[in-house]
Amino acid sequence: MLFKNLNVVTSRGIKNCDILVENGKIKDIGSFSAKGIDFNGSIVIPSVIDMHVHCRDFNQDYKETVETATKAAISKGVTGIVEMPNTSPPVNNEDIFEERRTLFKEKSYCDYGINFSVTDHLTFFDGYKFIKIFLTETTGKLLFKGDLDKLFSHKKPIAVHSDINGIKECVKLSIKYGTKLHVCHVSTKEEIEFLKEYKNENITVEVTPHHLLLPKNSENVKPDLGEKKDREALWKELGKTIDVIASDHAPHTEEEKKKGAYGIPGVETILPLTLDFAFRKKISFETLASLISENPAKIVSDKKGFGIGKDADFTVIEEKEWIVDSKNFYSKSKFSPFDGMKLKGTVKTVILRGEIVCDGETIKKINCKDM
Ligand code: DOR
Ligand code: ZN
Ligand code: ZN
Repeated sequence: MLFKNLNVVTSRGIKNCDILVENGKIKDIGSFSAKGIDFNGSIVIPSVIDMHVHCRDFNQDYKETVETATKAAISKGVTGIVEMPNTSPPVNNEDIFEERRTLFKEKSYCDYGINFSVTDHLTFFDGYKFIKIFLTETTGKLLFKGDLDKLFSHKKPIAVHSDINGIKECVKLSIKYGTKLHVCHVSTKEEIEFLKEYKNENITVEVTPHHLLLPKNSENVKPDLGEKKDREALWKELGKTIDVIASDHAPHTEEEKKKGAYGIPGVETILPLTLDFAFRKKISFETLASLISENPAKIVSDKKGFGIGKDADFTVIEEKEWIVDSKNFYSKSKFSPFDGMKLKGTVKTVILRGEIVCDGETIKKINCKDM
């Protein structure tokens, strides 16, 4: 299969090319004389990955399911997600992890990685992306009570939900053992300044669109939304200290939100919001590609990213304005602080491993894979 005349966005710029796809993978990139599907110079973001998604399911399928969350993802151009383990029951032993894997294999509309959680001990098995630890309060009952030093000494990749104190501790231990550390949703100037100073090649840093955009106390999320000085510090480090923008898609019912549940749905707004940042020149398209595609791919999967041998995942976009309306979400969580926002950039076509899975109207389910 030959895709012709695409303008592919990467961290090195926007490059016009044809892409030869074989068995769902990129076989070659260049300029070829053979006939193929003409993309007419459309802008294409390869391998969009949201590294921070809560799909719920199990006992909370009234909030969201793997099926609805991943359908939501694909509908807005996200071809891979990484899922968080604070489900009910939590993904904290090998049996539940396998159950989760089966659920994704059967139900997912996009490719996926699954995180695992520990609160006080570590059982060894393969297959998860990160051990997710919660050092401060949030949804679920997964507060880590064990020995952090011991945990880091195993050298398994760790993703952390924390405030500055826990971040400092984890960074220290990551440096001590050479353990990979992903710092989820930074939210304050203090955190980003600390990370700017101490970050090394084993440490990656994530921010959410809501921590970049929303004023303090305007939404109930964890970590809390920061002040103007915090948001400014975060914007300044996008593409520098900050490697990844991820949504922290956290679906709840309206009733639960009224009672104070933490989090907002985000997997359907992550690409539109970040595209808007690029179209309105708040960040460059090169930085956009790093934050939502290249860096997440580098962090979670050697199959993803843009290059020969990688999965042929492409999101075709258009520079069109539209207005966010959460009533149209595929997520069960039909509210958004971004409702009514006029955004520049829409998703036209989504291609997963060479197959068109969304043409802007219909969504097609193919067999999805663990990344
Ligand atoms: O606001 C949040 N909601 N932050 C988190 O870290 C967890 C999430 C959830 O699972 O509801
Ligand atoms: Zn968190
Ligand atoms: Zn989260």
